[in-house]
Amino acid sequence: MRGPLPFLLIVPFDKSLLEQESCLSGRLLGNYRDGSYVKSVMLTDQDCISSWSARTKSFSAFFAPAVQGFRQLVWIEEESVDSSLKTLTAEDEFAQFLERLSSPPVEETFLDSKQGVFIETHRDFIYEVHFQTPTAALLSVNSRLALHLDTVLPRYWKSTPFPSFPTEFFPVPPSSVEPVKSVLASLAYDSTVATIADSISIPQMKNDIRFLTGEDGQSGIISRHSFAQGSRVAAAWLKQRFEETGATCRLMLFLQGFAPNVICRYESVVDTTGTVIISGHYDSRGSFGSTRMPGGDDDGSGTIAVLSIARAIARNCVKFHQNVELVAFAGEEQGLYGSRAYARELRSLDANVTLMIQADMLAYRKPGEPMQLGLPMSIGTPEVAQLVANISSLYSPELEVGFTTACCSDHQSFHEQGYASTQVFERAGPIADPMYHNSGDLSDREGFDFDQLKAIAKVQFATILHYTGFELRK
Ligand SMILES: *[C@@H]1O[C@H](CO)[C@@H](O)[C@H](O)[C@H]1NC(C)=O
Ligand SMILES: *[C@@H]1O[C@H](CO)[C@@H](O)[C@H](O)[C@H]1NC(C)=O
Ligand SMILES: [Zn+2]
Repeated sequence: MRGPLPFLLIVPFDKSLLEQESCLSGRLLGNYRDGSYVKSVMLTDQDCISSWSARTKSFSAFFAPAVQGFRQLVWIEEESVDSSLKTLTAEDEFAQFLERLSSPPVEETFLDSKQGVFIETHRDFIYEVHFQTPTAALLSVNSRLALHLDTVLPRYWKSTPFPSFPTEFFPVPPSSVEPVKSVLASLAYDSTVATIADSISIPQMKNDIRFLTGEDGQSGIISRHSFAQGSRVAAAWLKQRFEETGATCRLMLFLQGFAPNVICRYESVVDTTGTVIISGHYDSRGSFGSTRMPGGDDDGSGTIAVLSIARAIARNCVKFHQNVELVAFAGEEQGLYGSRAYARELRSLDANVTLMIQADMLAYRKPGEPMQLGLPMSIGTPEVAQLVANISSLYSPELEVGFTTACCSDHQSFHEQGYASTQVFERAGPIADPMYHNSGDLSDREGFDFDQLKAIAKVQFATILHYTGFELRK
């Protein structure tokens, strides 16, 4: 052990420097996005900073704020959105955000505790800005604000809390990438896979999503925000639907006050520890001051894609040759809380997760654009993205595949723990959905395209089938 680690060091992400035996190993607080860059934040000492400064000028170092007790470090960043959606510059958005934090609230507490979310009174918010660029910032905030940042952040910004302790960097080891490469190398169209994947039902997806958004007038769900009652209704409903398809499910509680992760598993019919995870997040975010948070596209669409796969598994009596987990995460909108908890649990058990694919926002298609599938440019395992791309060209050739700068959904939590992972997204390019993080994010609207949603769900399902191997029997 060295002495105390009083400094925070922020440097451009460089895998080789984190991996090799250096003064930075074991000091990582996380890799975070800043515009089109990824930056690593480390907790370290003066000697290490001096050796770093001898090597490069592109770093920032400053005294670490006292984070023990009630302070939480958070990274906030502007998301990659199409310029047509933006009315303010990132700088103005940030300034407004700081104003909101310091201005007294109009009302004390907010709304209906049964359905809505309590928007906390701002006077309870304590914060300090430690580092800032035009598209990102590092703050320390009190725990109350940490949990409620999504209710005060600008619409196109998101936050990620720092872990309490620095850790090792877990790169995805070559042994986890090899099986992906070998499936890719022998990939060929399989008519059974095509038939099974094509059995995904659009009418059923329409019903399912209308339950989650509350558009069906039956579920009573107004919001699936992680703290709202509707998220509990959604969790119980999802668990039941998955169980009906033969999965074994559990509700994983990860943090007080948050809705649980819904984790459903189909055991392998051959003896293996290998486990593939296909996921979405069912929690939602809405407009300022509104309790309506239908989250139709974000991420009702990804959740429904996962559920549609479960229904097709049952319909076709599919048995897999690896364990398959279908997961609906909560706490994504507050900073990947649910998936972080699960990925860390799996890593601590040394679980053999061989592939992880997160679906976040699959249904929006900008008028005039073709159907698309976007794969992440920065966070994720390139070989997994390549596998998904090639499977897409076999089973959903109508999708135009490309890369997106939209980034960092729940697959990031698995990537950080060294698991081979990627994300599927609705567009090759930045976010273009005008209802993103808006109370109008319903499924019944222009641009919400069930054909694209099904085409991407087919790719997810075909990827599992090719990757695990399977048989069909009662
Ligand atoms: C994946 O698809 C690309 C583009 O069609 C092709 O060039 C490449 O050979 C494929 N990769 C493998 C390993 O089959
Ligand atoms: C993990 O699962 C895969 C797929 O079944 C298997 O090939 C591999 O040997 C397993 N790894 C370990 C360490 O058990
Ligand atoms: Zn999302």
